[in-house]
Amino acid sequence: MTLWSGRFTSSMDSTLWDLSESYSFDHVLYHHDIMGTRAHVRGLEAADLITSDESLALLGALEEIESEFDRGVFVRSGSDEDIHTAIERRATEMLGEVGAKIHTARSRNDQIATTMRLFTRDALGEVSGLVLALVDELVNLGAAHKDASLPGYTHLQRAQPVLLSHHLNAHAWALLRDVDRLLDARRRLDVSPLGAGALAGTSLPIDPAVPAALLGFGDTFANSMDAVSDRDFVAETLFDVALLGVHLSRMGEELVLWTSAEFDFATLGDAFTTGSSMLPQKKNSDVAELVRAKTGRFVGNLTSLLVTLKGLPLSYNRDLQEDKEPLFDSIRQVRLVLEALTGAYASLEFHLDVAAAAAADANLVAIDIAERLVEEGVPFRQAHERVGRLVGEAATKGLSLVDLVRADDDLARFVHLFEPGSALAHRSSPGASGPLASPAQRERLVKAVAGLRERLVEPGHPSQ
Ligand code: ARG
Repeated sequence: MTLWSGRFTSSMDSTLWDLSESYSFDHVLYHHDIMGTRAHVRGLEAADLITSDESLALLGALEEIESEFDRGVFVRSGSDEDIHTAIERRATEMLGEVGAKIHTARSRNDQIATTMRLFTRDALGEVSGLVLALVDELVNLGAAHKDASLPGYTHLQRAQPVLLSHHLNAHAWALLRDVDRLLDARRRLDVSPLGAGALAGTSLPIDPAVPAALLGFGDTFANSMDAVSDRDFVAETLFDVALLGVHLSRMGEELVLWTSAEFDFATLGDAFTTGSSMLPQKKNSDVAELVRAKTGRFVGNLTSLLVTLKGLPLSYNRDLQEDKEPLFDSIRQVRLVLEALTGAYASLEFHLDVAAAAAADANLVAIDIAERLVEEGVPFRQAHERVGRLVGEAATKGLSLVDLVRADDDLARFVHLFEPGSALAHRSSPGASGPLASPAQRERLVKAVAGLRERLVEPGHPSQ
């Protein structure tokens, strides 16, 4: 028997059942659903809709049901359409009439909206923590190779030498924006929909503020119809994960390049590489490729939800059930990606000599010579032209730029700039890549990480 069979004379067609049931994927919500139901029971007690004995019995049954799930011994009955039905059915089995009071003044519509918010709230915190762990790894790697340099690229053409720490910290800053966004999404979802009922509230004397406070929500819904139909928090979370995925994918692509024989800037540890079933010599950076690939799913999940939401009339529509699999998939996959990528970075062995040799490419000093001329009062466009001509001559005649500069009466005094590290040493403007500019940047980064860590553990999210 379903929860709503009272009105019907025949049972559901099996094809509709298969289409409609969601227990097969929403059972993972059991903890958050029970958390919401506990708060609801206490709200019913506060409103005198159940006695304190009944409340105690219901809370006891919920504890037992949660433990059955935890131990993997909860048995789904054939008529359990979704996680809510399964829990109510089991409570009623355990307590009889008292169990049948659990859904008083509640609909699955406000119930699922609450459960999804609780689940998403935890997921956002967890993903933020994993991103911060990856940021720590990047920052530590940079600090451990303080003087290491490599070419910085634009258009994937060597542009200027940069410090390895500056390069790694560039990824860290993008990831910190991701954490900022994830925590913003968590702040915005901090509204309890419980008490909105099916769509219009209830004539029973409940106070939505009671369960909201117990669940650690900062506010209660202002409009019951909005409360049951709003899935902005799921869409926002999927967007935040998709953009995070875009950043992670770029990092994955970079690892693929760095570990190729063509770049040869680094090697991944054996524990983070795979071999080939045919080619004995192969050591593949699959971890980085999979990180890159998962982003397709993240973008797909976001797109799928946005298309589901568009055009839905107010208020609850069954379409909203389709918010779950995209969310669960994105959260599960981004967790895997973050953990594997953090491990992969920790296993990296940098070929500092190769990277430094590439950074010492004489052409990368061209801008520094031009800037020295500017210091002496030469207009930049003329300085650019002057050095550019020499670089062009070196390229077309197959000559060394260093030799050409040395032989040039006007520029010979700048030949020391070709010494490795010299260009970096001159670059000291705030935010630039150079040993003089980096301590202040490091301080700013460490401060930003600490600020986000504080927000991550902000009080007000008690779990019951
Ligand atoms: N499984 C449903 C969902 O995820 C729960 C709400 C069902 N509500 C309903 N009116 N059929 O959205």
